[in-house]
Amino acid sequence: MSTPPNRRILLIDDTPSIHEDFRKILTPEAQHTAELDDMEAALFGSEAKPAATLFELDSAYGGQEGLSKLLQAMEEQRPYALAFVDMRMPQGWDGAETIEHLWKEDPRLQVVVCTAYSDHSWDELLERLQARDRLLILKKPFDNIEVQQMANTLTSKWDMTQRASVQLDQLGHLVERRTQQYRQASVDLQQEIDERKLLESQLVQSEKLASLGQLAAGVAHEINNPIGFISSNLGALDGYFKQLQEMLDAYLDAEEAIGSSELIARLKALRERIELDFLRDDIPQLIKESKDGIARVGQIVKDLKDFSRVDPTQEWQWANLQHGIDSTLNIVANEIKYKADVVKLYQPLPDVECLPSQINQVVMNLIVNAAQAIGPERGTITLSNGLEGEKVWIEVADTGSGIEPHSLQKIFDPFFTTKPVGQGTGLGLSLSYGIVKKHRGEISVRSEVGVGTTFRIELPLRQSKPAA
Ligand SMILES: Nc1ncnc2c1ncn2[C@@H]1O[C@H](COP(=O)(O)OP(=O)(O)O)[C@@H](O)[C@H]1O
Ligand SMILES: [Mg+2]
Repeated sequence: MSTPPNRRILLIDDTPSIHEDFRKILTPEAQHTAELDDMEAALFGSEAKPAATLFELDSAYGGQEGLSKLLQAMEEQRPYALAFVDMRMPQGWDGAETIEHLWKEDPRLQVVVCTAYSDHSWDELLERLQARDRLLILKKPFDNIEVQQMANTLTSKWDMTQRASVQLDQLGHLVERRTQQYRQASVDLQQEIDERKLLESQLVQSEKLASLGQLAAGVAHEINNPIGFISSNLGALDGYFKQLQEMLDAYLDAEEAIGSSELIARLKALRERIELDFLRDDIPQLIKESKDGIARVGQIVKDLKDFSRVDPTQEWQWANLQHGIDSTLNIVANEIKYKADVVKLYQPLPDVECLPSQINQVVMNLIVNAAQAIGPERGTITLSNGLEGEKVWIEVADTGSGIEPHSLQKIFDPFFTTKPVGQGTGLGLSLSYGIVKKHRGEISVRSEVGVGTTFRIELPLRQSKPAA
């Protein structure tokens, strides 16, 4: 960027003849040049300019006028490079005061103080102006060539200083930009580190779930075997006891035929001692309870197996979501039973193409969250579902604490939890979100503080092409 050199000079002096002298020294051909310019412009177009740059001299006859000229020049973006300032001006500001004002507005201005020998104590003046590097002293009477050289040198100095400061500015901008880039890079890096950490922890979490699932499946398998023979034995026991009852009845009938009254009395005493009537009532009762109990154990084991079904190949399968919800509900029954009643509003659902154990995981997270949001008063958890076009939906609604509006947008963020350490990891909903997204579904929430919260999942019936 090359701007033309600044040759603008301001002369501040109260003596008009001095202005004449300066004009002769600094713009010797101004008149002539102006005429020439016009002629050249007429001949060659307005671009034509004389080769030599002359000074442009403005006059002010007092300090205040000088200042207003300087301000105007600055406003027009045509600052002066140099000012000659007379030291002694009886009216208004003297030279020193004028210079102070000028520098306050434009510190770049180079200044020559014009003075008679005896005008001032120099030390005092320099002390007062505190800018020895912008100030020269020209003693009267002047020498023409001295004035010319001062003007040449100082306007050039102004240009160089200006250029240096522009470059410094550019350098500053460059440094600022680089710094900005480094800052951004470090932010990006930190973000990447955070994402990696998160992925790792999700991996750990899903590893944990997978191994837990495997464990549960193994235990379920082991328990299944004894459950099988216990329930079949109970069935047999039931049958045998019925036969024994028949036999007992036959013995009772036969008692009348016994001749020995002593034997009859002994049998009666024995019957009373063992409370035979009670046993006959109670034993079938016990067998029935045991059968029920073992059936329940069987159901739990089955649920556990369903729930933790390890999908090592992550295979998409067609599954009935209601079965999944019910077995999940059984698994978490203990968490819920002292806190809430469960209401089911089911509608018939077609099978859905999904990763069943993962959907179960989502439902479990929602039910556990619902139960944890309820308390101390007993509440209600309502599970509903339905079909809408090509989508099924599941809702888990609770009458719990509700979620504050400012938390609402953060609940799906990993590690966001409002629960005490040990109770909440803040991962449940973020994992659930990931699972639902993997199914090309939606998870949404409505909540009112003090009233309750409803989570809704929508899943497409079929995966046109399951997400990886
Ligand atoms: N049903 C709900 N009622 C009220 N707040 C809930 C409910 N479900 C989730 N939240 C809020 O969302 C947060 C994140 O839930 P989640 O990701 O499951 O992590 P965690 O349960 O470990 O805190 C919870 O700490 C809680 O503040
Ligand atoms: Mg949770």
